[in-house]
Amino acid sequence: MRQLALFTLAFAAGASPALAAEAERETFGSLPDGGEVPAIVLTNEAGMKVRVLAYGALIQELSVPGSDGAVDVVLGYDGIEGYLEAPNYFGVSVGRYANRIANGRFMLDGATYELAQNDGPNALHGGVRGFDKHLWTIADVRSGADEASVTLTYTSPDGEEGYPGTLEVSATYTLTESNELRIDYRATTDKPTIVNLTNHSYFNLAGASSGVSILDAVLTIPAESYTPVDETLIPTGGFTPVQGTAFDFRAPKRIGNGIRGGSDVQLRYGRGYDHNWVVSSAPVNGTQLLARLEDPGSGRVMEILSNQPGIQFYSGNFLDATVSGKDGTIYRQGDALCLEPQIFPDTPNKPEFGSARLDPGEVYENRIVYRFSLNAADDAD
Ligand code: GLA
Repeated sequence: MRQLALFTLAFAAGASPALAAEAERETFGSLPDGGEVPAIVLTNEAGMKVRVLAYGALIQELSVPGSDGAVDVVLGYDGIEGYLEAPNYFGVSVGRYANRIANGRFMLDGATYELAQNDGPNALHGGVRGFDKHLWTIADVRSGADEASVTLTYTSPDGEEGYPGTLEVSATYTLTESNELRIDYRATTDKPTIVNLTNHSYFNLAGASSGVSILDAVLTIPAESYTPVDETLIPTGGFTPVQGTAFDFRAPKRIGNGIRGGSDVQLRYGRGYDHNWVVSSAPVNGTQLLARLEDPGSGRVMEILSNQPGIQFYSGNFLDATVSGKDGTIYRQGDALCLEPQIFPDTPNKPEFGSARLDPGEVYENRIVYRFSLNAADDAD
């Protein structure tokens, strides 16, 4: 018996076992200059599937099992044309600075840097042509027994979109057999600069084309405070306790319960939720839970963890039925939401928020984990 067991072990280790998690290359159409857009499809035996495009290092599809089978839970387009014509930041990697910088201006070491004001008076999501609108390079692809991954890289030249320093960026997407999708964003620079990278997926755990409103989804954000904004969505400074406000998601809450929250001017400025929650005051070692989202109908649960201190919860307020996405579905308010782990908006102009600075020799990291599971019970308020 013992010999047989040893033999079995040796066999398992020696012969290459069937790979459970796989990464496969595809082509996802071509750009106007004729260049092909490579894509990588990650699958696991537990039934998940993720398609990552080299354009924008974006998530085009994220299929997740539920009581209703596996459905695609992110908004996007069936062809590359949609991403070129009406990007909406669907699924993209955002940089060099995700979210807003007031008046498109910041100072670093005594110099003032001017950025494009592409969102009212403010700079948004890295400028006119941020990282989401470039073709990244597929640098590494792996399949394996426990996980499959793809690493994409992008070099942002010194001065691109007004930011100082050449930034070498990588995004590694890893799908595990335990139904975690992990994104590791990393960046290094050759001059002092500022960095805030995140992923801008629009989620609906009932399915991107289900027609089920995300107002019926149940959200938890373990944050004691958030950063209130002015009418241009720039934080006014400081942290405000969520206690007693529509921003209190410390216990699981149906999103729709607070979004029409009476007299709260914050919900008018954002046309709903478009705010940053403060889970910790600074990045942490390892990861921390930033949000938990549940679709009561299918039982699908997504937990989001990251080393970042903040999470922008955007309830899809600018989805206005002007674009058709996958399967010809017209996207409207309520169809999806974004939960974006990041440093707080406008940190470069708000010393009390910490620092978004990256110096030569340092490595910027944002590790994001989307952990999927199934829950039969609805435990919402
Ligand atoms: C972010 C912003 C929103 C909006 C979307 C993209 O989440 O906070 O205000 O700009 O991106 O439409």
